[in-house]
Amino acid sequence: MISGSKNAALGIIAAAMLLDGSCVIENAPHISDVSVLLSICRDLGATVTLNANHSLTIDPRTITTCEAVSTKVRSIRASYYLQGALLGRFHKAVLSLPGGCNFGTRPIDQHVKGFEAMGVKVSIAHGNIEMSADTFHGDHIYLDIASVGATINLMIAAVKAQGVTVIENAAREPHIVDVANFLNTMGANIKGAGTDVIRITGVEALPGGPSYSIIPDQIEAGTYMIAAAATRGDVVVRNIIPKHMEPLSVKLEEMGVQTQSGDDWFRVWTDGQAVLSKTTFKTLPYPGFPTDLQPQTTVLLCTATGISRMYETVWENRFQYVDELKLMGADISVAERVALISGPCQLTGARIMARDLRAGAAMVLAGLVANGETEVYNIEVIERGYEHLVEKLSALGADIRAVYDQEKPSVVF
Ligand code: EPZ
Repeated sequence: MISGSKNAALGIIAAAMLLDGSCVIENAPHISDVSVLLSICRDLGATVTLNANHSLTIDPRTITTCEAVSTKVRSIRASYYLQGALLGRFHKAVLSLPGGCNFGTRPIDQHVKGFEAMGVKVSIAHGNIEMSADTFHGDHIYLDIASVGATINLMIAAVKAQGVTVIENAAREPHIVDVANFLNTMGANIKGAGTDVIRITGVEALPGGPSYSIIPDQIEAGTYMIAAAATRGDVVVRNIIPKHMEPLSVKLEEMGVQTQSGDDWFRVWTDGQAVLSKTTFKTLPYPGFPTDLQPQTTVLLCTATGISRMYETVWENRFQYVDELKLMGADISVAERVALISGPCQLTGARIMARDLRAGAAMVLAGLVANGETEVYNIEVIERGYEHLVEKLSALGADIRAVYDQEKPSVVF
């Protein structure tokens, strides 16, 4: 069963800080990035209650400050969504700059460009961003890059700005649509989310509304679909939105993997000895092939026959994990933003590091296909975005266990 989307949950929790009432959010994943963001919301003064069955009750009316300066804020990327939420609530905000996985510079210039267009004075110094607006108003913002974070952050901010905000060249990821749907359920007026032009008409108040259920995680689902293909297994991934998986499923079929989908499930299988053909992948903003499935897919391409190509067009440095795969015998060469993967190569078990969230998931997949035992350490980075990974893989037949020793927790299989 796939959990709620990490990247939707983080945007929705931050957006809830705008409300003039309380809300109930269902299907929130139990992952550490969500726990950290909820802790930051509590530090702001918001009332956050963890209910049973992945449900949260959030009431931001008890917020007492527009400042969020802490190592927690610095530790996750999605803390930047509180910039938009606190601006919307107070028309001022002071936050530590965001952190996040280390595979690129991860600037926030597009977020700043949008805030300044909305009348916000922005200053960045000493690792913090300080913002204030005498008149916080909508504007016509053209993003230079279809940035997921900037799209969500500016959409959140615009909900309570005076007048209309139009975001052009907006990103179209499923989690952007989910944040917009949540805000509209709470009383916002957002149109066009999921297209490259989003129009937000500012409202006086966000009274709240019925409980809102977060969409399933597209990237978690894709990770298990890739694991099934790489191990030549036969897996049904349940609680998903099949449309969101198409950028992956069409490519799996190109390689010779069988797929079948229903209302809320995808079956992925091959015959046990299937020869999968080499393929070229190119990461692109949605509805292109997602960059967050790039490392996992590179592991799959190690099991395909021939020389495959993986082009990474979103992040400038997202092949660091290849050095770990080479310890297992992978035959991969990386030049700039393209990796050439020569297969099939039989990976052998080794002690390897989870470099970041999705690279860590890829290391687990490599361990599943390798001969012998593999230990993946630094797994706390994987726990940022995957709920019950070991349990879910064990249920699919993987021989995997988590080993929590004093220094570094790891998974061994
Ligand atoms: C979000 O990061 C996701 N994180 C990332 O997923 C994902 O890889 C990325 O979107 C792309 O889909 C969260 O949602 C928390 P971007 P974000 O702004 O918002 C450049 C995961 O695995 N850019 O769409 O940081 C940037 O450098 C994580 O769940 C600017 O130049 O991504 C990059 O090259 C890892 N200026 C490109 O745009 C800006 O102001 C896309 O970045 C913002 C971005």
